[in-house]
Amino acid sequence: MTTTLSLSFFLTLCLFVIPSLSSDSDPLQDFCVGDLKASPSINGFPCKSAVSASDFFFSGLGAPLNTTNANGVAVSPANVLTFPGLNTLGLSMNNVEFAPGGVNPPHSHPRATEAGVVIEGSVFVGFLTTNNTLFSKVIHAGEMFVVPRGLVHFQWNVGKGKARLITAFNNQLPGSAVLPSSLFGSNPTIPNPVLTKTFRTDDVTVNKLKSMFAV
Ligand SMILES: *[C@@H]1O[C@H](CO)[C@@H](O)[C@H](O)[C@H]1NC(C)=O
Ligand SMILES: *[C@@H]1O[C@H](CO)[C@@H](O)[C@H](O)[C@H]1NC(C)=O
Repeated sequence: MTTTLSLSFFLTLCLFVIPSLSSDSDPLQDFCVGDLKASPSINGFPCKSAVSASDFFFSGLGAPLNTTNANGVAVSPANVLTFPGLNTLGLSMNNVEFAPGGVNPPHSHPRATEAGVVIEGSVFVGFLTTNNTLFSKVIHAGEMFVVPRGLVHFQWNVGKGKARLITAFNNQLPGSAVLPSSLFGSNPTIPNPVLTKTFRTDDVTVNKLKSMFAV
């Protein structure tokens, strides 16, 4: 009897918990184009009062991007900050372009699962579970991948030419914690003893990395 009661209590609890696991909350109206001039409210931006067709279209994902940089990668985001029409709708997209050999360094999106499709080239895509298992594969134009929310992942252009991905996120502002710059390029910087101990290395190495990622 007690077991049955505890079981039904547990199942009832699950019913209440499940909705809170969904991503952005369900919209309560057709749209709410973000007013970026207003301060963000509890979650997201207040709605703009006057909207027009242009609020629902965005041309900023266009190629080509300039990938001449240390990583050989460039990203153009369509999130609530660049495309306020996405406010409250629970999704966003990125255009990611790679020079030959370019690497989108290990990073994670704290607020979103990511799905992506290769538009051009061949890309080695990998993500790490919380027990450090690497799931990876080389995928080509027309093929798709998914990275579960919050997990560390990276992409590497392994083709001969350039490569391009379009990615989609189930959050209007997924956020990106890029490991090298989080650890070595923060402002203020993380104290050296934390980093030398963490990486079993010395001040010279840590200072060199800090100089490369300083903002
Ligand atoms: C691309 O970026 C590099 C480095 O900032 C710059 O030197 C170069 O002129 C840019 N190329 C174009 C076509 O804008
Ligand atoms: C780690 O996770 C993977 C994938 O979920 C699983 O196959 C593997 O057995 C786990 N390894 C350990 C040591 O727990």
